Amino acid sequence: TVDGLDFAVADLSLAESGRHQLRLAEHEMPGLMALRREYAATQPLRGARIAGSLHLTVQTAVLIETLVALGAEVRWVSCNIFSTQDEAAAAVVVGPDGTPEKPGGVSVFAWKGETLADYWWCTERLLTFPGGRPPNLLLDDGGDATMLVHKGVEFETAGAVPAPFADDPEDHRIMLRVLAGSLAADPGRFTRIAEEIRGVSEETTNGVNRLYRLAEQGRLLFPAVNVNDAVTKSKFDNRYGIRHSLADGLNRATDVMLGGKLAVVCGYGDVGKGAAESLRGQGARVVVTEIDPICALQAAMDGLEVVELDDVVHRADVFVTATGNTDVIMAEHMARMKHNVIVGNVGHFDTEIDMAGLARVPGIRCVEIKPQVHEWTFEDGHAVLVLSEGRLMNLGNATGHPSFVMSNSFSNQTIAQIELFTHAGEYTVDVHRLPKHLDEKVARLHLDALGVRLTRLTPRQADYLGVDVAGPYKPDHYRY
Ligand code: NAI
Repeated sequence: TVDGLDFAVADLSLAESGRHQLRLAEHEMPGLMALRREYAATQPLRGARIAGSLHLTVQTAVLIETLVALGAEVRWVSCNIFSTQDEAAAAVVVGPDGTPEKPGGVSVFAWKGETLADYWWCTERLLTFPGGRPPNLLLDDGGDATMLVHKGVEFETAGAVPAPFADDPEDHRIMLRVLAGSLAADPGRFTRIAEEIRGVSEETTNGVNRLYRLAEQGRLLFPAVNVNDAVTKSKFDNRYGIRHSLADGLNRATDVMLGGKLAVVCGYGDVGKGAAESLRGQGARVVVTEIDPICALQAAMDGLEVVELDDVVHRADVFVTATGNTDVIMAEHMARMKHNVIVGNVGHFDTEIDMAGLARVPGIRCVEIKPQVHEWTFEDGHAVLVLSEGRLMNLGNATGHPSFVMSNSFSNQTIAQIELFTHAGEYTVDVHRLPKHLDEKVARLHLDALGVRLTRLTPRQADYLGVDVAGPYKPDHYRY
C-alpha cells in the first residue's frame, strides 16, 4: 500500500513502457475513446465501485482507464495466471499522472506467472474497496469472481462447503480454502457483497454458460449482462481476435514454420473458425473436429475436412483446442502423437488438454524450454510441446487479441456497466443481452477508423424493410 493505494504487481518501474503502449492502444480503440468523450460531462459511473476480473493486458488497461474516466472507482485482477502484461499492470497502478514512487492509479492485483494460490488470493482482494466497502458492480471474464461471490454466499447460508459446479476448474479446492479463511475472519461478508452488487457483465462464452446455468437453477444472486453474445463481441473478438493472436502465440512460443503442416482445430464455433483461418493464413493444412452437426457442416462447406481426433492424432503437427469443453485431448492421445508436435488451447479453462493425466504418465519427463513452453518426453523418446500449461496460449504465449477488436468488446463492457449502474431497476435477476441498437452503436464507432462508407437507407427503403432509418436494421433472431 502506498498512500492508501493497495496493489500487487510485478514491477512498477515498467510503468513508463506500459504507458507508451497504452498511448498507442488508445489510438486503435476508437470505441472506448468515443465513449470517454460522450460521457465526460455526465460521469454516469460516478459512485460505481467496479471489481474487474479480466486478463490485464494493454487493451484492458485502456478499458480500466475508460471506466475511471466515466467516474468509477475500480479494482482489478487477471482472470488467468499467465495473461497479465506486467508493464500494463504497472501503468494502471501508477496512473497517467503518477510516478512509480507516488502511484496514483488503480488497485491492481495481477502479475504474469501467478500460482493458483496467488490467483485466488488476488481475486479475494478484488472484493474489498478502501474503507472496507464492497463493490457494487462486477466485470468478469470466465466467471471466477462471480463464482467466488456465489459460493461465498452459499457457504454462509448453508454453513457448509457448497456443491461444486460441473464445470469447476481443478483449482476449486484452493478457492474454497481462500473462502474458508475469509469467512472465518468476517462471517457474512459475501452476503453483504452480493446485496450491494447491482449486476455483473460477463465477457466470455464459458462465463455466460455458467451464468445461464446459475439462473436456471435459481441460484443467480444479481442481474447479469451477457456481453459475449453481443454481435460486436463474439462475432469479432472470438473470431477475428483469435485469427490474429493464435498465430502470434504459436510463433512467439516455438517459431516453427506453420506452412505445410497439418493442424487440427478442435471445435468450430466462433473461436474455432478464427483459429482455422489463422492457421490457413499461415499455409497450414487445417482439419477440424466437432460434435455439433451444424458446425461440422459449416467447416465442411468452408472447405475443411472434418475428422475424428483418432483419424489424425498420429500424423498432425499442431493441435489447437477451442471447444470450451473438458477432456478433449487426453494423455493417451498425446502418447500417440508424432515427435515434437505442438499442443495448445485457446478455450477459457485448462481442462481441454488433460494436463493432469499427462503428468501421471509413467516415465514422462518435463523440461521447461522457456516460460509457458514445456517439452513433455514420453518413455519411448517422443515429445510433445505443450503451450501455457494448457491454459489460453494466445494470452500466455503472446499478448492476446489486438486493440482494435478489443475496442469492440470493451465498448460493450462499458455500455453494460453503465446500463447496470444507471438502470439497475430495469434488469431482473436473470441473464440479459444488450439491445441491438447498442450493438449497432458499437459497430458504428469503429467504421471511421477503417474508412468505411455506410450506405444510408432512404425513408422509402426503410419503410419497405419495416425498419427505422436509424436502425436497428435486423430482428433479434438474425444470426449474422
Ligand atoms: P462456441 O460454443 O461458439 O464454440 C465451441 C465449439 O466447440 C462448439 O461448436 C461445440 O460444438 C464444439 N465442441 C464442444 N465439445 C467438443 C468436442 N469434444 N470436440 C469437438 N468440438 C467440440 O464457443 P466460442 O465462442 O467459440 O468459445 C470457445 C472457447 O473459447 C470458450 O471457452 C471461450 O470462453 C473461449 N474464448 C477464448 C478466447 C481467447 O482469446 N482465447 C476469446 C473468446 C472466447
